[in-house]
Amino acid sequence: MREEPMLTEYGVPIDPQSMVAPVEATELELEPGHPGLGDDGYVARRRQLFALCRHHRLERLGPPIVEYTAEETRIWREVSPKLDELHVKHASQTYLEAKRELAITQTEIPQLRHLSTRVERETNMHLVPAEGALPYRIFYEYIGQRGFPVTQFIRHGSHPEFTPEPDMIHDCLGHVPPLMNHDYAELLTLIGKAASTATHGEHVLALKRFSWFSIEFGLIDEHGETKVFGSGILSSTGEIPYSLFSTDVKREPFVTETVITTDYDPSRMQDHLFIAPSLPFLRRELEALVQRFGL
Ligand SMILES: [Fe+2]
Repeated sequence: MREEPMLTEYGVPIDPQSMVAPVEATELELEPGHPGLGDDGYVARRRQLFALCRHHRLERLGPPIVEYTAEETRIWREVSPKLDELHVKHASQTYLEAKRELAITQTEIPQLRHLSTRVERETNMHLVPAEGALPYRIFYEYIGQRGFPVTQFIRHGSHPEFTPEPDMIHDCLGHVPPLMNHDYAELLTLIGKAASTATHGEHVLALKRFSWFSIEFGLIDEHGETKVFGSGILSSTGEIPYSLFSTDVKREPFVTETVITTDYDPSRMQDHLFIAPSLPFLRRELEALVQRFGL
């Protein structure tokens, strides 16, 4: 297998040192080219939420109740109806039912604290407030302990349909609803446990690819129709139709051996996707893989 840079779930390169001693950012860092750079009000708000969420995460206080600003609510009200229209047509039933069950609306930004309580009641998963992307090990350790790290900030208003980093729209509309499904919850927890304990580079890479092509960019078969369940697709108005209908996308059945040896490029629209027959199938496949790796 050829060497490739390790990436966090969001495509941020992993410093090899962080595999040994994870390095956390202690202050807000916006990457070059971020649409919010130069907007002092936005940067100040992001700093405030960074400090608040980091404190709540480190002290294990659960997601803070956040009073969202008029601008943040405006962005939510602009993006979420467009996504919802696409979800109704193209998202998996599991996702749609969970979104309804969680009462996620297009008018108000949900409080992660409330979503966490509801998810915990259903599948014993909970939400961990995250100030931003976390180092790989830390991210998967939380998941292995049934906590899903979620951000509580919103993208910059100048580009409501684009974010260079995972924000609340990605996390809340992409990752949170599937946590209500039992097979999904067990699959995720197992990925977390395995990925945070694996030391062999090849095993880590296989688990990351399995996760990428299922949790993040998975398609699923529902009664002969291909539907979306990957959160990276579900949180992008461009990627939903592209994933299902573009002739530039190669779609093939989810075969674990193929998936764990397939590269991906997180910096662009995904042109190679896998269609899983069901969530229980993915759970069984991962259980077998983890056993094979001796994890
Ligand atoms: Fe994600």
